[in-house]
Amino acid sequence: MSHIPVLLQETLDLLDVRPDGIYIDATVGSGGHAEAILRKLEGGKLLGIDRDPEALAQASARLREFGEKVVLRRGNFAEIDALHAASGLPPANGMLADLGMSSLQLEDASRGFSFERSGPLDMRMDPDSPLTAADLVNRSRERDLADLIFRLGEERHSRRIARAIVKARPIQTTTTLALVVMRAIPSRTGLRHLHPATRTFMALRMAVNEELENLEKFLSRALSVLAPSGRLAILSFHSLEDRIVKRTFYQWHREGRTQLLTRKIVRPTEEESRNNPRSRSAKLRVVEKLAT
Ligand SMILES: C[S@@+](CC[C@H](N)C(=O)[O-])C[C@H]1O[C@@H](n2cnc3c(N)ncnc32)[C@H](O)[C@@H]1O
Repeated sequence: MSHIPVLLQETLDLLDVRPDGIYIDATVGSGGHAEAILRKLEGGKLLGIDRDPEALAQASARLREFGEKVVLRRGNFAEIDALHAASGLPPANGMLADLGMSSLQLEDASRGFSFERSGPLDMRMDPDSPLTAADLVNRSRERDLADLIFRLGEERHSRRIARAIVKARPIQTTTTLALVVMRAIPSRTGLRHLHPATRTFMALRMAVNEELENLEKFLSRALSVLAPSGRLAILSFHSLEDRIVKRTFYQWHREGRTQLLTRKIVRPTEEESRNNPRSRSAKLRVVEKLAT
């Protein structure tokens, strides 16, 4: 199944895309949001970035019809200032970061993101980055593993899980890990709709890809690539991510650097949550850069 862009109309409305504008999609993925932005451009351009070469290949095929209106670059959005400078484009009128992973990544068993598909314990969005989930699972000390699963997965059974993992090592596949986690958690606890391994997998994925660290770096540089009145939209799916975005946006507001356009956070409608379960935890926050 292809990736369905989340909160698409809401994002377009809040970015207030103008036909001659410069836009950056810092997480272009399969190009869903990017395509919708490009359809509104006449004379404007879009820079699409992703750290995953497979995502870029998909985006490139999907966005081919837009020709020179679109520039695609592989890279980590933590270095957004350098990526933007290398593109040679002027400051942007709008930028989007749609955090987390795409359905394309989740559904490819060989990438190791899903506990439902047997694959190697990889989970790297950038296949050239050095650390895999197998490294973390098989080499970390039990206490560090427990802390990681507790902090990033908000998993209250983290200690039991870490103990079970250490006992079962070496663990090489996603389904073996899922089974070990499932057996470690007392039955009948946890939410019924959540697979017992969900939180552990999420924690490992976030650690392997340094997702919170990259988000912090991205935010520290994001305003430098925006033109005055340029807008920054961030879609997050994890409470720790949203906390970072919220804290940063309020700080910028207090410092007079941006205006908050989403005092009331934007969430998917019931209809969207029903049609696209991945959207359920989505939160959209948007700011506008003030001329200083
Ligand atoms: C949720 S998907 C984006 C989907 C896209 N909006 C669409 O409509 O198709 C997130 C994408 O961000 C990429 N990504 C995650 N962290 C990144 C980072 N630090 N730098 C660049 N890309 C990143 C992932 O590889 C993934 O393709």
